[in-house]
Amino acid sequence: MNHHRRFDRSGRSGDAEAMQIARTVRELRDWLDGRRAAFVPTMGALHEGHLALIRHAESLGEPVVVSIFVNPTQFGPNEDFSRYPRTLETDLAACEEIGADLVFTPAAEEIYPPGQPPMEIALPPVATEPGLEDAHRPGHFRGVCQVVARLFDLVEPAVAIFGEKDYQQLLVIRAMVKQEQPRWQGLTVTGLPTVRDPDGLAMSSRNRYLDPEQRDRALGLARALQAAHAAQKPDTAEAIMIETLRAHDLAIDYAVVRDSETLMPVGDFSRPTRALIAARLDDVRLIDNQAMTVWT
Ligand code: PAF
Repeated sequence: MNHHRRFDRSGRSGDAEAMQIARTVRELRDWLDGRRAAFVPTMGALHEGHLALIRHAESLGEPVVVSIFVNPTQFGPNEDFSRYPRTLETDLAACEEIGADLVFTPAAEEIYPPGQPPMEIALPPVATEPGLEDAHRPGHFRGVCQVVARLFDLVEPAVAIFGEKDYQQLLVIRAMVKQEQPRWQGLTVTGLPTVRDPDGLAMSSRNRYLDPEQRDRALGLARALQAAHAAQKPDTAEAIMIETLRAHDLAIDYAVVRDSETLMPVGDFSRPTRALIAARLDDVRLIDNQAMTVWT
């Protein structure tokens, strides 16, 4: 990598400065040179949902850093770490096209230096109490917090941008940042709405695993959320979601309506709530969620 190149937004058109790729912490830190970036952490296999996050980062007027790292510690022993899609060349081209300034693609040793004990972050209640992803993917948020904390320490961003598709993850990261204060001073965590295919399917790197018949069944998640939207009570919404998911032959991990901030159960729609679903379709696990209407 070309070290010490100065970031120059004025040179964007015409002789736009080429996107840089940092493979090591040293290269990343040299490139940043004390500047605070708009940061989009990803595991690659980028789709329109990720690209919307990068575009938003672009709009903020800060240097834009994207990380691509398939983090082993957030996958359970029976999950899809080894087959998780890895599409680095296409991802880099997409980042360049949008105008990302730097892509950080570290090897595992850069994130988890051999001989150093992995960082342990005390998990906030939203990572352990709701009984949603925390219950169905034990150890997942421990791994997410580990890698995101490490990335925040390295990038020291001004803004970090995540999708609402992983809604519990977004809340966990927000809570972690608050809890760890004053570490990552001044960092804002921004969540952006889920990007959907025209028929409603939430974009996900895991959609690549679906054949056409499975993709049709996967639409059950978006349809369940849609059908539940008009319900007057959380338990009715949950019953509607369960029925729709079953009609699509999906195995349900959960289909619930919860408080939008704590993700704990609610009795009515008088406060902001969120419908959240996780369902399995053969060996593919899918999640989706949407805000419910507040009735006063
Ligand atoms: O949402 C993801 O892609 C990952 O969980 C993240 C935040 C990049 C951490 O590995």
